[in-house]
Amino acid sequence: MSVHKVVKKITTHILQEMKLKGEKISMLTAYDFSMARIVDAAGIDIILVGDSASNVMAGHETTLPITLDQMIYHAGSVIRATNRALVVVDLPFGSYQGNSKEALNSSIRIMKEAEAHAVKLEGGREVKESIERILSAGIPVMGHLGLTPQSIYKFGTYTVRAKEEVEAKRLIEDAHILQEAGCFAIVLEKIPYKLAAQVAAELTIPIIGIGAGNGVDGQVLVLHDMLGINNEFSPRFLRRYANLYEVITSAVQNYVKDVKAKDFPNDSEQY
Ligand code: KIV
Repeated sequence: MSVHKVVKKITTHILQEMKLKGEKISMLTAYDFSMARIVDAAGIDIILVGDSASNVMAGHETTLPITLDQMIYHAGSVIRATNRALVVVDLPFGSYQGNSKEALNSSIRIMKEAEAHAVKLEGGREVKESIERILSAGIPVMGHLGLTPQSIYKFGTYTVRAKEEVEAKRLIEDAHILQEAGCFAIVLEKIPYKLAAQVAAELTIPIIGIGAGNGVDGQVLVLHDMLGINNEFSPRFLRRYANLYEVITSAVQNYVKDVKAKDFPNDSEQY
């Protein structure tokens, strides 16, 4: 029997067990109560309250503008909807890069005010001290390497990272540093599948990929992308499981038509 089928509540220890047993981990983003309730009841292992809320929910071009207060608001909504999944919350840009004390204070606010289960932050060796300090307060930390969207202005583009040997070597070293610092899992974003598979094979903690191929321990996607709500974003790694853009457009068009035609509400829909 798979761990996924029997477990009532996902913890970081359960994720470790899944890796040991070779059972893949499923992870999706969610930012609000209604979506999180559906995603959790459908059996997802991890819900990520990603700083992609900055793009998806607020319409910003990058993840940089979202604030710690806004992340806490989204995280609280998701937590109230969740019974089974482990809820991980992104530390937003500017809430942890200053120093490790700031990283700890931001993490404590997320855990206390949103009642989250864990935090995620981007970066390798440069955030090691912050990871250790957050962990010293008993807060589980997920790492994030490869394409790290908070550094988009340093990278210049959203293309595949670590294709060259020097960057690939540094990424492998950073993954080991994050594991030694105590991260319970790492997200690898948009890197060659062979490199991602090597990291997953070398490390004992779960490696969750997005655009990182099939050789890792789990997969994560942005919910609105995989549901086809956002139809303007079509990277190669994205599989669309629905076309909600079309479903919602058609529903709204039908509603407008019915209202204009005085067909809604009808006799049975009024008091
Ligand atoms: O913010 C986010 O949605 C993420 C995923 C892309 C992993 O960090």
